[in-house]
Amino acid sequence: MKILTFGASNTKNSINKALARFTATLVPGAEVEVLDLSDYDLPIFSEDLEKEIGQHPTAKAFFEKIGAADGVIVSFAEHNGSYTAAYKNLFDWASRIDQKVFQDKPTVYLSTSPGPGGAASVLASAKGSAQFFGVDLKAAVSVPSFYDVFDAETGRINEPNALADLTAAAKTLALREAA
Ligand SMILES: Cc1cc2nc3c(=O)[nH]c(=O)nc-3n(C[C@H](O)[C@H](O)[C@H](O)COP(=O)(O)O)c2cc1C
Repeated sequence: MKILTFGASNTKNSINKALARFTATLVPGAEVEVLDLSDYDLPIFSEDLEKEIGQHPTAKAFFEKIGAADGVIVSFAEHNGSYTAAYKNLFDWASRIDQKVFQDKPTVYLSTSPGPGGAASVLASAKGSAQFFGVDLKAAVSVPSFYDVFDAETGRINEPNALADLTAAAKTLALREAA
């Protein structure tokens, strides 16, 4: 099965991208594509611009990437308790193509931050609205204190509790194939 994975951040060395990428390796038999959101920058869009040029091609490309996947793993970076502006802009304008941005794909939501909060606030927001955006949400895991639990050399999370939660979440994406 094809798993699309990304951090909901346009930081090149995004810790959320690293977490999402690692978690995708825990999905049995997955073929993984890692998206870098910095390749999906679009200008701050508006309804006026939409009238002028229609849907933005970058939002379309993002929507189509999700459409081509069998499952999605996204890890949310938290900026002031909410989504990063880069993700929100891309997501909002993808939702003008179809409000079901996630197109009923089985999805795992993650979040992490360097601090003890683990970006739990943005994760709670994302979970709360998932039903409106075609997200078949299978699991959600927040990982606090990223740099304490991540081994940069291997790209793995080694802390046993976080690893167990991520492994269980990843397996929910493989269950559908086995069924
Ligand atoms: C503008 C800004 C606001 C931030 N706000 C929060 C926050 O509310 N909660 C938090 O845990 N971390 C916050 N951070 C720190 C981020 O968690 C940290 O930069 C993290 O690396 C972002 O994830 P990324 O590496 O995937 O982009 C903030 C960082 C920036 C630049």
